[in-house]
Amino acid sequence: MVLADMSSELSGRVAIVTGGASGIGAASAALLAAAGATVIVADLQEAGGPESGAGRFVAHDVASEDSWKALLADVLGREGRLDIMVNNAGISGGPGNIETTTVENWQQVQAIDSEGVFLGSKYAIEGMKKTGPGKPAIKGSIVNVSSIAGLIGGAGPTAYTAAKGAVRLMSKSVALYCAEQKYDIRCNSVHPGGVDTAIFNPLWQAMGHEQGKAFIGARHPIGRMSEPSELGEIILFLASDRSSFMTGAEIAADGGITAGLMRRSLLAPS
Ligand SMILES: NC(=O)c1ccc[n+]([C@@H]2O[C@H](COP(=O)([O-])OP(=O)(O)OC[C@H]3O[C@@H](n4cnc5c(N)ncnc54)[C@H](O)[C@@H]3O)[C@@H](O)[C@H]2O)c1
Repeated sequence: MVLADMSSELSGRVAIVTGGASGIGAASAALLAAAGATVIVADLQEAGGPESGAGRFVAHDVASEDSWKALLADVLGREGRLDIMVNNAGISGGPGNIETTTVENWQQVQAIDSEGVFLGSKYAIEGMKKTGPGKPAIKGSIVNVSSIAGLIGGAGPTAYTAAKGAVRLMSKSVALYCAEQKYDIRCNSVHPGGVDTAIFNPLWQAMGHEQGKAFIGARHPIGRMSEPSELGEIILFLASDRSSFMTGAEIAADGGITAGLMRRSLLAPS
């Protein structure tokens, strides 16, 4: 197979990136646009969206079904089709453990990090199915941003871990459903380790950005945090036909955190 020129690989395709105004979402939006896609940056906050030049900004709340209906109508009305959905918007919800997490905090994190992806996947399929006759056939791709917290447990944050775990298996359910229905729509999940974004703002404020980065980076076998663009490259890969045989899969981009123990085994503890 001869791979297409990257700058036109996604030309004619329309992508929505939730949380596209900042961090991983902004980097993904920029890379999708560079590959030729028409990108809609859907976010609560505008800052970074228009500035990044990646695409048209639409104010959107992933936790609201009405907001999803309005976004889909807007995109189908203006761009006329939907090919790629990156369900990336998320919050950490803070460090609460099972004893300290309040019901309100739990519900807010589930509403954005889990239900937001449920709604994003549901409306992605609806939008992709409505991509009309007479246009190039759909090769839909839904990319759900989970976390290493969706792959391995931790003592906290409890609500975030539960939500990201839900995204992992929800993505497989969506993938299998679309395959069963013979929709040409794939669905995969991405599991970042520590990425240098605004989600760590409380830590940057407490420790300073460089010290905070070093602190988190040292907890990765690879010895550093990721830059948002490193995750954007994986999201671009899953969005494009380069990953055409992948559905229901998960990609960990975590500097080795979930690979296992480094160097020392329990049998040779020196
Ligand atoms: N940064 C990391 O280390 C890391 C690690 C694992 C997973 N993730 C996940 O990556 C995704 C992106 O996070 P990031 O690190 O780029 O953070 P970020 O804070 O830089 O960006 C998140 C974006 O989501 C938007 N957002 C929040 N709630 C929203 C809502 N209800 N509706 C629409 N938009 C909303 C924010 O306005 C922001 O622009 C999140 O799902 C996060 O859980 C991040």
